[in-house]
Amino acid sequence: MDTLLLNGGRPLRGSVPISGAKNASLPILIATLVAPGEHLLGNVPRLVDTSSMLSLVGRIGCPSIIGANTRIDTSRVAFCEAPYDIVRTMRASVLALGPLLARCGEAHVSLPGGCAIGMRPIDQHLKGLEAIGCRFELEGGYVHGRVDKLRGAEFRFDVVTVTGTENVLMAAVLAEGTTVLDNAAAEPEVEDLAAFLNGCGAHIEGAGTSRIVIHGVSSLKPSPKVHNILPDRIEAGTYLVAGVISQGNVRCENVRPADLEPVIRVLREAGAAVECGDTWVSAGADGRVHAVDIETAPHPGFPTDMQAQLMALMCVAKGTSRIRETIFENRFMHAAELLRLGAQIHIEGNTATVTGQPQLSGATVMATDLRASASLVLAGLAAQGKTEVLRLYHLDRGYERLVEKLSAVGAVVERGQEGRPAPRREVA
Ligand code: EPU
Repeated sequence: MDTLLLNGGRPLRGSVPISGAKNASLPILIATLVAPGEHLLGNVPRLVDTSSMLSLVGRIGCPSIIGANTRIDTSRVAFCEAPYDIVRTMRASVLALGPLLARCGEAHVSLPGGCAIGMRPIDQHLKGLEAIGCRFELEGGYVHGRVDKLRGAEFRFDVVTVTGTENVLMAAVLAEGTTVLDNAAAEPEVEDLAAFLNGCGAHIEGAGTSRIVIHGVSSLKPSPKVHNILPDRIEAGTYLVAGVISQGNVRCENVRPADLEPVIRVLREAGAAVECGDTWVSAGADGRVHAVDIETAPHPGFPTDMQAQLMALMCVAKGTSRIRETIFENRFMHAAELLRLGAQIHIEGNTATVTGQPQLSGATVMATDLRASASLVLAGLAAQGKTEVLRLYHLDRGYERLVEKLSAVGAVVERGQEGRPAPRREVA
């Protein structure tokens, strides 16, 4: 299994081009089903997760070609199923539910089950789709959905759910009448999905706020224009933390600074130097930053997908930080691994108390999910000596060309193989 080998303790300096957002690409790739024809998508990141979503779209019967622009031909649909072998590798396959119901009137989607960060039920996806006329049965580990006619309705989510909002949105665009979604997710990725659907002829208002109004239309067709996926604010946030934690300065190019506002706010509060232009943000520090308290929340709050990375930063900050995770019940799996690098973290319930240390030291560590792995890479960049992050495949799910991008800003990093001695690349 591939690992990531790092030699830490060096300030990173330079620019990193930010890729298209994973969490916008995934719903948009599958949303192409609701508008039969040939779609052109730009800025789709080459990630294991986007490949898995394209495999799913292929299994449904729609071929795709990956290039500078990704082409997907959804003229014909052969199967309305998201099978277990794909869903178990990528939870986001559950996003097939809404588009398949809208396109075929039925959908058979394997239940995703829990994952490393929590239970992650899909009750809200089902309730929202039921509100607009779908019926569900659960059998053999699958959700079997059917609908005769989608009808607009008012629906309020009990909890804010990103993919839940996206699933209902992707079906409601083809409902008869108007659907109003309250307590909807306001994440920029939901807004990008709505922009894509509107480009196909949908009539969606309010995406990017907690109230989305969808005026149903009878059919959609691919936009003649390329839809460019929005930049990945979590990838960018991770590189900004890399600039700060390494006591260097990293500039993220091709970003939307407004989407990074919650992260920028916390970094500034910690004393990091953050600058923004129209399409770039840079962050760095001359020494250790100060501890700050963080609480995750739905957008525009501090993103749970940046919690692990900020925890890595707090491990080397001056003072004690309290980090409260309010979105997922089990998203502190990185903490025990950070301890192996010399961090001091105490967890009680959903709160981690992190006492910053002047120095971490390299070790072999392993994470159970994507963002946890990112936090270990960041901690390894700050640590003295060698760090090996096992199970690199987690990072390949969400960070495009990670080794290349980190190397370009001066990190000493390479891919290795578990069980094989690390190449003796000594660095001056
Ligand atoms: N929830 C329910 N019922 C539901 C749906 C969600 O109780 O039907 C709960 C969840 O258990 C959780 C909370 O609501 O406690 C929020 O979960 P949400 O549904 O928003 O998460 P998601 O849509 O499954 C997306 C991202 C995650 C990101 C979360 C939160 C995608 C493909 N995934 O997941 O991204 O952490 O929103 O912002 O968009 C990642 O990229 O590493 C990642 C995990």
